[in-house]
Amino acid sequence: MSWRRDWPPKLIHILVTAGPTREFFDPVRFLSNPSSGKMGYAIAKAALDKGARVTLISGPCSLTPPKSARLIRIVSADELYRATLREARRADILFMTAAVSDYRPVRTLPRKIKKTGRDLSIRLIPTRDILKTLGARKRRGQVLVGFAAETDHLERHALAKLKKKNLDFIVANKVGPGLGFESEKNKLVVLSKDDQKWALPSLTKKKAAQRLVAIVLS
Ligand code: CTP
Repeated sequence: MSWRRDWPPKLIHILVTAGPTREFFDPVRFLSNPSSGKMGYAIAKAALDKGARVTLISGPCSLTPPKSARLIRIVSADELYRATLREARRADILFMTAAVSDYRPVRTLPRKIKKTGRDLSIRLIPTRDILKTLGARKRRGQVLVGFAAETDHLERHALAKLKKKNLDFIVANKVGPGLGFESEKNKLVVLSKDDQKWALPSLTKKKAAQRLVAIVLS
């Protein structure tokens, strides 16, 4: 009896990365970005409400994680890379919401840099692109959702990222003064690899996350 093979139904496992990363160049100073983590946390909650099992990998932020999510805290882009690649093996759908630093200081000094009054240069090197690595290793049936925060040419830049990183969906939003990152609302455009497009109105991050999760699960 073939139905027995699908019984009990498999719980969908959704992995969400959220928040900023911090790249320390001395013990008390770092490079980061203004990501609040709100969008990622809202996606984790919306996925739980749909009955999924959720792992939330979060950079430093002040939000309370949804109760039933499994929470993994990271600080740097390198920690996020390692945690995400380890957890991705068991995930069916991945929402890569984290605002990952593209560069990190070449080293973290053990002592605080003292003020000299002279110019200071800090050498930065690129971090690894987590999403691109996941796209290259994507399992059959695994769904990869990337995010593109852009100041200009929103759809063109987002589509280029979808292709370059082998994604199934890309969620684009405009950022700039008063838009995106720390704001309460988000106006998202969702693009799929099979050329579908959903232009959502300006919504609270909670509502935008619910719509996005519904689109990806449909
Ligand atoms: N991302 C990632 N690893 C990085 C940088 C970004 O996984 N080292 C992911 C983000 O989580 C997001 C997507 O890639 O889902 C797009 O991030 P973004 O910074 O907009 O794209 P980049 O590829 O870094 O391109 P650029 O900064 O040049 O726009």
